[in-house]
Amino acid sequence: MAKRVVIFGSAGQLGVELVREFSRKNYSVMGYDRATVDITDSSAVEREIAAADPELVVNAAAYNQVDLAEQEPQAAFLVNALAVRNIAVACRQIDAPLVHFSTDYVFDGVAKRPYSEEDRPHPLGAYAVSKLAGELYARAYLDNALIIRTSGVFGPGGLHTARSNFVELMLRLYSAGGPIRVVADHIASPTYAPQLARCTVELAEGGHCGVFHVGGGTPISWFDFAAMIFRAAGISDAPLRPTSEREYRTAARRPKYSALKNARLEQLGMGSMPSIGAALDMYFAARQAAISS
Ligand SMILES: NC(=O)c1ccc[n+]([C@@H]2O[C@H](COP(=O)([O-])OP(=O)(O)OC[C@H]3O[C@@H](n4cnc5c(N)ncnc54)[C@H](OP(=O)(O)O)[C@@H]3O)[C@@H](O)[C@H]2O)c1
Repeated sequence: MAKRVVIFGSAGQLGVELVREFSRKNYSVMGYDRATVDITDSSAVEREIAAADPELVVNAAAYNQVDLAEQEPQAAFLVNALAVRNIAVACRQIDAPLVHFSTDYVFDGVAKRPYSEEDRPHPLGAYAVSKLAGELYARAYLDNALIIRTSGVFGPGGLHTARSNFVELMLRLYSAGGPIRVVADHIASPTYAPQLARCTVELAEGGHCGVFHVGGGTPISWFDFAAMIFRAAGISDAPLRPTSEREYRTAARRPKYSALKNARLEQLGMGSMPSIGAALDMYFAARQAAISS
């Protein structure tokens, strides 16, 4: 009989890839978007998990508005921390393992080298604190929670989601005309969502738990990533200009260096990631297919 998996946040950029990947692996997938289950509603979460009685629960739902979180830290905390507690408590009641996603922003970026799972988190703002609290809640209620920290997620799902992604943002700014200013002094490890979904299924099937880093594998500045995006899109006249944290102020503090070292994945022999160029080529092929269908 097919294994049952419940996925919260199934309409999000990563959620759609998780639904696809678990379905491809012949799971019976019960996906919930915000309209079907708001994860901040503890009774709804408990009721749905009990009714579905799944072998695995995956939480890809999140409040991801890093700057807005500085104005409404309670809203971020409700979704990214307290709602994770709702899910963890419900998982505990039926002994189901939980996979939960977290972020490179739990680090302060002082290290200037890719962060491994052994590094001490030091979040710099409301979003980052709420995500770290979500990790703590998952691990407080469950011994077998799998926490996957990732970075700069981009996938074709972002074509249709409210939050979109950095690739689509660059293309929108290009269409709007005018200079496109992107920070050259912040480094991350952009991660291709379908690859992240594949790693997630593999880790979950292997029964792994604790914190895992699953980043794209290549540290790169947002400016250099933007330049690669325009190259991959065949755009040679993008008015792209480097800027800096000092010049381009945002409401939230962000780590200047947040690339992830996938140390535990590497130990398992699962650390091989597509290059950013290859991931962008796959992205644009999938994007083209989605647009023409
Ligand atoms: N995107 C990145 O660059 C990035 C980087 C590091 C870590 N991550 C982490 O990776 C995971 C997946 O991110 P993503 O890129 O797929 O984000 P996303 O596209 O913004 O998807 C998040 C989904 O969560 C839903 N959601 C928000 N509040 C909810 C609630 N109260 N109840 C139920 N659903 C709710 C959203 O629905 P609405 O559209 O209705 O709000 C959206 O469908 C998250 O844990 C995120 O923190 C992402």
